[in-house]
Amino acid sequence: METIKLNDGNTMPILGYGVFQIDKNQTQKCVEDALSVGYRLIDTAAIYDNEEGVGTAIKASGIKREELFITTKLWINNISKKNARGAFETSLKKLGLDYVDLYLIHQPFNDSYGAWEVLCELKKEGLVKSIGVSNFYPDRLSEFCFHNEIKPALNQVECHPFLPRFDFENTMKDLGITMQSWASFAEGQNGIFDNEILKAIASKYNKSVAQVILRWLIQRGIAVIPKTLSKERMIENISVFDFALDSSDMEKIAEIGKNEFIICNHRELETINFLLNLAK
Ligand SMILES: NC(=O)c1ccc[n+]([C@@H]2O[C@H](COP(=O)([O-])OP(=O)(O)OC[C@H]3O[C@@H](n4cnc5c(N)ncnc54)[C@H](OP(=O)(O)O)[C@@H]3O)[C@@H](O)[C@H]2O)c1
Repeated sequence: METIKLNDGNTMPILGYGVFQIDKNQTQKCVEDALSVGYRLIDTAAIYDNEEGVGTAIKASGIKREELFITTKLWINNISKKNARGAFETSLKKLGLDYVDLYLIHQPFNDSYGAWEVLCELKKEGLVKSIGVSNFYPDRLSEFCFHNEIKPALNQVECHPFLPRFDFENTMKDLGITMQSWASFAEGQNGIFDNEILKAIASKYNKSVAQVILRWLIQRGIAVIPKTLSKERMIENISVFDFALDSSDMEKIAEIGKNEFIICNHRELETINFLLNLAK
């Protein structure tokens, strides 16, 4: 597995397994399957309500803790100086772990500055190895870095061929922050798996559309965490290190994108109000 070196010196697998929208009763089995086929990074969140399933699968796998990279996230109602530590302790307990590898502020709203102070303390105490953010757009991320001594190691954002985020890529490179794509497959929406350009490239390399998308992101240095319930697809999605897209195919995929938000635009007033209401 290829890895990425984060700005705090820690190393992270470039590809992992995401468990958003996996029912809590199915999570243990899915994560056990993922670990059995070679995934070592698992991405969960307090709001996914399946941290226990992730923890049980980790325990059952018998894999050494240091070989795993576990990410979880602080949900919006707890993004504050007052609540962040308690919320972290709840996540840690549900996961049954002594520490998490990466802890993210899930949304760029509420008191992210106060919460960040707590995340910095958790890092100093060794309860979290790396700290980062999610859904921070370039302007907010730049400001956040400007005002904080410790910069986020990573920013997890919606990124797929319809929303390639070249603007983010440059800002994050300048700031030294790793970009991780969520919804690399646009959650299967917008006909992504039937896209003619992606299908033609996939057939050229004798790979699937899913593999081409993941490869395109990885070759840009963007980390990925695809979700699937199927063990066959887990194997398919992790089998992306035995081929490379040439520069003309990289460009063809870059041209698909019209900067379409398929899942969630954090600049849309409706989305902002929806999330702010959840913070109450
Ligand atoms: N930070 C955030 O705000 C945020 C938001 C959303 C997600 N995330 C994280 O990012 C992870 C990935 O994003 P996501 O789950 O939203 O969506 P995604 O990975 O883009 O797409 C998952 C969808 O693609 C299908 N799929 C997976 N592999 C496939 C393949 N090889 N061929 C065909 N279909 C395939 C899955 O179906 P099956 O399951 O039926 O195979 C599912 O419908 C999440 O699980 C979560 O950990 C973070």
